[in-house]
Amino acid sequence: MSSFIVKKSPPLSGSIKINGSKNSALPIIASSILTDEECILENVPPLSDVKIMLKILEDIGKTVKFDEEKHIVKISGEILPDYEIDAEKSSKIRASFMFAGPILARTGNARIPFPGGCSIGLRPVDLHLKGFSLMGAEISTGHGMTVIKSSGLSGSFIYLDFPSVGATENIIMAAALAKGTTVIENAAEEPEISDLCAFINKMGGCVKGSGTKNIVIKGVKKLHGASHSIIPDRIEAGTFMAAAAVTGGKITLENIVPQHLQPIVFKLREAGMNIEGFKNKMTAEASEEIFPFNLKTMPFPGFPTDMQSMMMSLMSVAKGTSIITETIFENRFMNALELKKMGADIRIESRCAIINGVKNLTGTSVKACDLRSGAALIVSALAAEGETEITDIYHIERGYFEIDKRLGSLGALIKKIP
Ligand code: UD1
Repeated sequence: MSSFIVKKSPPLSGSIKINGSKNSALPIIASSILTDEECILENVPPLSDVKIMLKILEDIGKTVKFDEEKHIVKISGEILPDYEIDAEKSSKIRASFMFAGPILARTGNARIPFPGGCSIGLRPVDLHLKGFSLMGAEISTGHGMTVIKSSGLSGSFIYLDFPSVGATENIIMAAALAKGTTVIENAAEEPEISDLCAFINKMGGCVKGSGTKNIVIKGVKKLHGASHSIIPDRIEAGTFMAAAAVTGGKITLENIVPQHLQPIVFKLREAGMNIEGFKNKMTAEASEEIFPFNLKTMPFPGFPTDMQSMMMSLMSVAKGTSIITETIFENRFMNALELKKMGADIRIESRCAIINGVKNLTGTSVKACDLRSGAALIVSALAAEGETEITDIYHIERGYFEIDKRLGSLGALIKKIP
């Protein structure tokens, strides 16, 4: 199994073009099922999660061509009328459940194994199923499989108990071809949802209100092929800024949407960073010392849970005490244990982490426990004395394309060993 070897690095400097968003690409890939015509997706990051989604699409019957160098995917063709998604592939990624909505809409028969993904909490799919059920689908579960059947979905009023990103996306995809109008109240407002809605509308769909808590989907009879460029990955951008902060560096991010980064930028400024945005670029410059700050993860436009671990890395070397309150996932402090091995002073109390900044972290052997906590270990290792070995990096590579080379281009001392 490969590892990253990271040495204490000089201040990061230079420019980096941010890749397309993983969390946007995954549901948009699933939504290509809503038509048999060709869909052309640009700015698709060649990540392992994306490749598994595309593989499942091929299994379902689609023809897929992925130009990994140009980050362009072309998807076309009909899907098989009665197909059960492979349990092994499904168990690798959470987003495999995003096939439920579009398959149900097209065939009236979706059989999806229980999804995998990062172990950061229970991650049930009850809200997805509640939405399908209100649209007239019948649901049964057993033997690790969810079977959703319908002889024709009807528009409905759906109130989500929690603004779940995945449930909002799945319901939008199912509703796009349903008979009548669906209203999702208390919908998630994440930028990735607006990107999915923009793509569905390009396909001839009628989705209004994305980016707000009230999304209205008027079902249409048929959708057609479309071209779309995936939005930039706000979490990849935030990770690079955190890396610049701990090394005392100054970097420029290209291909970003400043509004998507606002919650992250506000916190990094509290930590002392000087950040300026110009159209689709942003420059982030570290201050001489990192100031302590508190944060609470919230649905968008609140602070993203996916950036929480990287902020913990920053807080670990801040001058004082910081507190993180994690409100989205119940098991998202796993990197604290690894950071403690590097000398961090962190106490977990239920949903809170209390972090007393230390002067220095020290390199040692640590393990990536999930995607974001693994990325956070890289951030910490860049500032730690000596050398850090990070194992189980397949977690990190699910969400960051060639992070070693990309950080290396900014001056980071990181190399991948087989
Ligand atoms: C998506 C993102 C993930 C991010 C998360 C929150 C993708 C591929 N993944 O995950 O990176 O961390 O949003 O921003 O886009 N919940 C239920 N029942 C449900 C669905 C969710 O109780 O049916 C709960 C979850 O357990 C969790 C919370 O709602 O506590 C948020 O989950 P959700 O927004 O659905 O996250 P995902 O879509 O899985």
